Amino acid sequence: MEKYLEVFKDYTNKYDKNDKLISLKVSHSIRVAKLCEDIAKNMKLDEKDIKLAYIIGLTHDYGRFDQISRYHSFDDLKTMDHGEHGANLLIEMGLINEYDVDVDDYGVVAAAIRNHNKLNIEKGLNERELLMSKLIRDADKLDILYLVSKNIIDVSMEKDFSKEAVADLKKMKSVDAINVKSKSDKHLTNLGLVYDLNYEYSFKYLESSGYLEEIVYRRNDEELKKIEENIMEYVYSRGEKNGK
Ligand SMILES: [Fe+2]
Repeated sequence: MEKYLEVFKDYTNKYDKNDKLISLKVSHSIRVAKLCEDIAKNMKLDEKDIKLAYIIGLTHDYGRFDQISRYHSFDDLKTMDHGEHGANLLIEMGLINEYDVDVDDYGVVAAAIRNHNKLNIEKGLNERELLMSKLIRDADKLDILYLVSKNIIDVSMEKDFSKEAVADLKKMKSVDAINVKSKSDKHLTNLGLVYDLNYEYSFKYLESSGYLEEIVYRRNDEELKKIEENIMEYVYSRGEKNGK
């Protein structure tokens, strides 16, 4: 995997590493690639697919670097869809050629990257496209929860939660970005990521990492406490249900 890491570093070295948002996304991508590799190994995928999962992990945020350079923002709704842009750079612009991926798998890479940042995975994907889309979404979310737990991503609260964001979580769904109206809603968004996790490894990883325990109970609010308890219970039950 070392040679792919070099290709990734060559690409990202073109961007301003003194920019904190750039360095955040460089280290995030490297950790996500490792998580993709670990999930793929845990699922007993073959060598070729473990490699493919790793490459998708490394490249899933390629669109972020242009987004940061142009807008200095991660707000896809207000700037650009970094998933679509990343898929474009890799496939249309040919950056994937640097990574030793079978041409037959270009569609899988495109689908996974296009879908990694969407609320829901698009309909009509084939089995491999769906598998890699779910895999990158899990790995990405696990690392976001790590960043939040370490306060590397700002989690400060400002005002009350929006009813819509709370309603999403009560339905055991992740929070739709259009329902995020305050920093407090971003906290709900982070918690709600668990409802979109797919694989056994991800629940177990989250359970043993202790990230959620570090994130929850940051505010004395009965409604929030109930939501947070439900989320913990959900993660623990999915971890156990999958044969602990
Ligand atoms: Fe992303």
